[in-house]
Amino acid sequence: MNSKSNTSVPPRLRAEVESILITEDQLARRIKVLAGEIEDDFRGHEMVVVSLLSGTVMFLADLIRHLNLPLRLDFIGVSSYGAGTESGELVFTKELRIDVRNRDVLLVDDILDTGKTLSRVLPKLKALKPRRIKTCVLLNKAARRVENIKADYVGFEIPDFFVIGYGLDFAERYRNLPFVGVLHPHIYKEVSQQVLKK
Ligand code: IMP
Ligand code: MG
Repeated sequence: MNSKSNTSVPPRLRAEVESILITEDQLARRIKVLAGEIEDDFRGHEMVVVSLLSGTVMFLADLIRHLNLPLRLDFIGVSSYGAGTESGELVFTKELRIDVRNRDVLLVDDILDTGKTLSRVLPKLKALKPRRIKTCVLLNKAARRVENIKADYVGFEIPDFFVIGYGLDFAERYRNLPFVGVLHPHIYKEVSQQVLKK
């Protein structure tokens, strides 16, 4: 990370956020392009966008306002109750309400990391017999993959850093930051140690 990106971290956050990985401008430009690709592929059919809570909030809002297509939107709540930065056991906190049978579905998540989340959610969606399912993630951390899974649309390929902001959290914090930043390792190390002591 160069010092330029470090100095652009707002002063209030400098003890927690090491650097800005993706700026607001870069996010806005890339998401517009991504939406264009999705629009071309989905034209001619009403689509159902299924978004995973809660990390997708900002990405989703920016993505779908560029999709000039008829669409319906629904959410699946999925939480991994793990300590620190590792995804633990997955728990469904909200089920899909919209009927996706014979529909074209776009499944949206914030980040594809180990792949455990999408490999649990995809079979659940497939069982509802949609016409097709495409997956879209803002970030892809390919180095961490455990499951054999790829996303059809990827905003950015990123290295193995724990990132926060633009919807992504650490312990439910930092979702409101308008950029994607790298979390200072000392933040999650402190939390993991607290958890280990319990
Ligand atoms: P996976 O199941 O390991 O692919 O991880 C997917 C979920 O883990 C994402 O939807 C995020 O909620 C969370 N996650 C993985 N990596 C990060 C990260 O760097 N920052 C914030 N959340 C992450
Ligand atoms: Mg999360």
